[in-house]
Amino acid sequence: MNYSASKICKIFSLDTSPPFNKEDLLQAERTGNIPKQSLISLKKRSQKIWSPEQLPAIGEKFGFMEKPKHTKVMTTFVTKGGVLKTSLTLNFARMAALHNINTCVIGLDMQGDITSGLGYNYEVSDQMNMEEALIKIQQTKGLMGFYKKNCELEDIIIPTELPTLSFIPETPELVALNQALNHKNKREYWLADEVVEPLKEQFDLILFDCSPNWNLLITNALVACESLLIPLECKINNFRNLKMFQSFLEEFKSEMNLTFSNHYIPTRASSKRKLSREILHWYQENVSGCSQYSVRESLQGEEASALYLSIPEYAPLSPSATEMNLIIDEAWQTICPRQKTRKKKWPQKNNIRLV
Ligand SMILES: Nc1ncnc2c1ncn2[C@@H]1O[C@H](COP(=O)(O)OP(=O)(O)OP(=O)(O)O)[C@@H](O)[C@H]1O
Ligand SMILES: [Mg+2]
Repeated sequence: MNYSASKICKIFSLDTSPPFNKEDLLQAERTGNIPKQSLISLKKRSQKIWSPEQLPAIGEKFGFMEKPKHTKVMTTFVTKGGVLKTSLTLNFARMAALHNINTCVIGLDMQGDITSGLGYNYEVSDQMNMEEALIKIQQTKGLMGFYKKNCELEDIIIPTELPTLSFIPETPELVALNQALNHKNKREYWLADEVVEPLKEQFDLILFDCSPNWNLLITNALVACESLLIPLECKINNFRNLKMFQSFLEEFKSEMNLTFSNHYIPTRASSKRKLSREILHWYQENVSGCSQYSVRESLQGEEASALYLSIPEYAPLSPSATEMNLIIDEAWQTICPRQKTRKKKWPQKNNIRLV
């Protein structure tokens, strides 16, 4: 994927903070404030573009997420499947990385969705035979390898094509790790003490992606985080689940003396469906800590995930991209309030084009 000046303006929602536009970005390039574009020929025309690795330097200068002074830890979790937990983690992680925020994603779901979502294929190629492929997938070490002291923490951190984005892959041994933690002292604190604490030396942001099942790994991720992202599906059968989840969560927080903030994000919203609109409205009026924005049900959202990209990168011109940036900005402000004086002027909620 390559990026033109106008695409970059959209990815970082630069046009929402006038008077910044494409010309200002090109001026910043000319004066050496941001990396230089390369000339490529595309469909017999030459075009100037930035490559993905150059984006963090641009994001840091002109984007909307500021690098935190101290490492921030966020967890995405709710006890409901398919509600866009992993998609939100992926969008958050990629957008943070594009703002030069050194990010590490830790997958805690045995299904391995965020690991594949970040483009990892366990180093298996289609040209391998089955035996070779099986050997390869066994070689991927994850948190269990580190727990058993078969490897160092460094050995399980995998880089991506973005220099500011890494991850710890999910392996099937997470099931065994969950069991093993049961027999440990301070069993809820293993991730916080043994994984998060050392990672703080090299990362600005650590993001946990969780399975929908409340197990000991999830408990560990809750203990370790400062902010919890909770997707709320705009569907009627989510109501019963929400009540149950909220009471469990509050009980757990008070038992463990935890103070992380709850950030509820309505997902799969559809303005075409009356019920969906009403549910969205109800969440925003009645759930404390609920975002004033929502992730709409969209093909672009699905396609972006399938291509291992955030929505703003994949479809920068779409309303879904603007909404995703608004959601990320709002959540980021709660744990890392903006220091710079330059205020962002986002579009009013009612001015975002609805599907
Ligand atoms: N905006 C969107 N609209 C519709 N579908 C989407 C959108 N964004 C992502 N999807 C698709 O929805 C599916 C479920 O999303 P996702 O994996 O993020 O949910 P999840 O809550 O993590 O699920 P699980 O509980 O299994 O971990 C994925 O196939 C994803 O590609
Ligand atoms: Mg998931």
